[in-house]
Amino acid sequence: MVSTERRMVTGLEHLNAPTDEVVLDIVGLKKYYPVGGGFSFFGEKQSLKAVDDISFNIRRGETFGLVGESGCGKTTTAKTVLGLEKATGGEIRFEGDNISSMSRAEKKNFRSNVQAVFQDPWSSLNPRMRVRSIVGEPLEIATSMTKKQIADRVGDLLSEVGLNPYQANLYPHEFSGGQRQRIGIARALSLNPELIILDEPVSALDVSIRAQIMNLLVDLQKEHNLSYLLIAHNLATVRYMCHRVGVMYLGKIVETGATDPLFDNALHPYTKALISAALPSHPDIVREEIILPGEVPSPINPPSGCTFNPRCPMKIGDICEQLPPKLATEEEGHDVSCLLYSGSLDAARAADGGAAASMSAEPEPAAAE
Ligand SMILES: Nc1ncnc2c1ncn2[C@@H]1O[C@H](COP(=O)(O)OP(=O)(O)OP(=O)(O)O)[C@@H](O)[C@H]1O
Ligand code: SF4
Ligand SMILES: [Mg+2]
Repeated sequence: MVSTERRMVTGLEHLNAPTDEVVLDIVGLKKYYPVGGGFSFFGEKQSLKAVDDISFNIRRGETFGLVGESGCGKTTTAKTVLGLEKATGGEIRFEGDNISSMSRAEKKNFRSNVQAVFQDPWSSLNPRMRVRSIVGEPLEIATSMTKKQIADRVGDLLSEVGLNPYQANLYPHEFSGGQRQRIGIARALSLNPELIILDEPVSALDVSIRAQIMNLLVDLQKEHNLSYLLIAHNLATVRYMCHRVGVMYLGKIVETGATDPLFDNALHPYTKALISAALPSHPDIVREEIILPGEVPSPINPPSGCTFNPRCPMKIGDICEQLPPKLATEEEGHDVSCLLYSGSLDAARAADGGAAASMSAEPEPAAAE
């Protein structure tokens, strides 16, 4: 068996080759939560912009990763796609259809086709249900299969995720953490979905188990041509499993691109800092860690201009506090939202159209000692 570390060093050849067909298309998605009764001290409407105008798509057989620090809006994005939260704005299209205008039957079909696996296999499985009920429940609810057919299907699903069919009679506490996550994956697979949302699927697991679950997910993707939205803090997980990646900061995607170019040639100062802080995938790779000053600002009162500006080690000057950068293509398939790059700067100036149009985007000279 090829070890995870070996595969990481040699690139993405262990992954499925996605088709060009877009399964999930997210356009300008926003999710704002009202705060403080919805009004500020001055009577203005206040909201927490958990997800603020993000766009990305996922093709059939592809894994798209969302990474970023805690609180940047990854899970909110997932919940909004799953319909657990109502979007404040933007569109979610599944196989070309906007989910907000789907008929009842289309919504039912969408719910079968989009499943989720969450971080914590302890709390995501009902401790009072046997595994056969946990894995068989979606089949009971959404299909007209007989009890015998469901029992057979549960046995097949358990085998597929590396468990033994006899374990259908056991309760979740009779399994290890990794096995419990396999049960969650079997349940997610039960209705033959096309897209699975994986929200930190391995981060609660022992390091030694993580590679097994990642390899299982990769193998299942190949077998069923599944699409995944993978949410993870851990960059090694993302690099191993994802074809493309979106880096989120304070509710926005600040950089997106194919996994290897993004990791090998990160453009955004935030992505550079994230990568510099992660363990290299090979001991020969030497990196200088970029320590970001300060905490992630509040999404209720985000900084003006570029929201990363108070922490940015490459801040150009006042323009970063005044002109919000726009995500724009810098290299083919590689987009960045930072005024250091001409595409993003031009798009920001075009969107602003006013006062900031003439501001200099040249770095300010260092102050004389
Ligand atoms: N129901 C809610 N009401 C109000 N604010 C919320 C709600 N859910 C999430 N938030 C806020 O939205 C922001 C994004 O949260 P989210 O859970 O999406 O972050 P995350 O990127 O998944 O973080 P983590 O990596 O810690 O899981 C946070 O500031 C969070 O406090
Ligand atoms: S726009 Fe300015 S502050 Fe924002 S990431 Fe780019 S250089 Fe840094
Ligand atoms: Mg989360």
